[in-house]
Amino acid sequence: MKEQLEAIRLAAEKGVSAALDEKQIEELRVKYLGKKGELTALLKQMGSLSPEERPKMGQLVNDAKAKVEALITERKAKLKEKATELKLKSETIDITLPEKATDVGGLHPLSIVTNDLIDIFQSMGFDVLDGPEVETDHYNFECLNVPEDHPARDMQDTFYLADKILLRTQTSAAQVRTMETRKPPIRIICPGRVFRADEVDATHSPVFHQLEGLVVDKGVTMCDLMGVLEQFAHEIYGDSVNVRFRPSFFPFTEPSVEVDVSCTECGGKGCRVCKGEGWIEILGAGMVHPNVLRSCGIDPDVYTGFAFGIGIDRITTTRYKISDIRLLFENDKRFLEQF
Ligand code: PHE
Repeated sequence: MKEQLEAIRLAAEKGVSAALDEKQIEELRVKYLGKKGELTALLKQMGSLSPEERPKMGQLVNDAKAKVEALITERKAKLKEKATELKLKSETIDITLPEKATDVGGLHPLSIVTNDLIDIFQSMGFDVLDGPEVETDHYNFECLNVPEDHPARDMQDTFYLADKILLRTQTSAAQVRTMETRKPPIRIICPGRVFRADEVDATHSPVFHQLEGLVVDKGVTMCDLMGVLEQFAHEIYGDSVNVRFRPSFFPFTEPSVEVDVSCTECGGKGCRVCKGEGWIEILGAGMVHPNVLRSCGIDPDVYTGFAFGIGIDRITTTRYKISDIRLLFENDKRFLEQF
């Protein structure tokens, strides 16, 4: 019986030392220590021993059981440790590896130019305002001294959403909204999208961008208008560019001008970009019409002002030498990545 015990113990020890995972160990535990296990079976055979031998043998079997049990616990712990180690190893991150290159977004050229324009006018003391894209006839036309029968109100030029509700055709709508809520001195700009029912071609789009400017105070003159706009043109295009003021007409300014800069492509000699003119028109401007001031509750005998509307798309295409305005709206990544 002793030999049998020794054999079982050895086999158990061998088995446990060789076990590779917890499942195998559990199987061994049942095999040797379980209710029907081999060592338990030996204890049951003790009845056949003599009364003197019984306690000795009982002691031996219990010792063997304890040994096997201790071995199992130890092996279990070791296996667990090994498993953790393996897991950690497999999950190790090499923090010295370079990261995967990711596509970084950039600003749209129109946003770059708009931001630059805002910087220029902010540094001259202008506030930046926002106006709604859906406007009323009242703000877009009526208060701006655009008479009922003016062709600009025509369905062909203006996108109407409902009776007297439209997509603003000009950021000038912001002028009136500003003068209704602020009192002079006023110095604001309002950049934004405007909409006109234009046929799409290389220089026209039904959606384009303007930056409106408005200055109202006592003693504001045409000289102030010219000084501010000349300064602006030089900041955008550089000091070498020539600036020209041409008489023009807008219902809401009197007198009115259009401002050209010498062609950025040919320098004024005349080329395809300036259509042989040597000049490129970048904005419309003028002294705020007394009727407009009056319609906003500002006394034209006390205050004067000037307003301007800059074509942001035109500034963008000339600055970056973009030959077709449609490129600005197609959002082709290959085009946009160049800015
Ligand atoms: N709103 C005019 C346009 O869209 C531009 C402009 C603005 C002219 C302000 C004069 C004063 O053409």
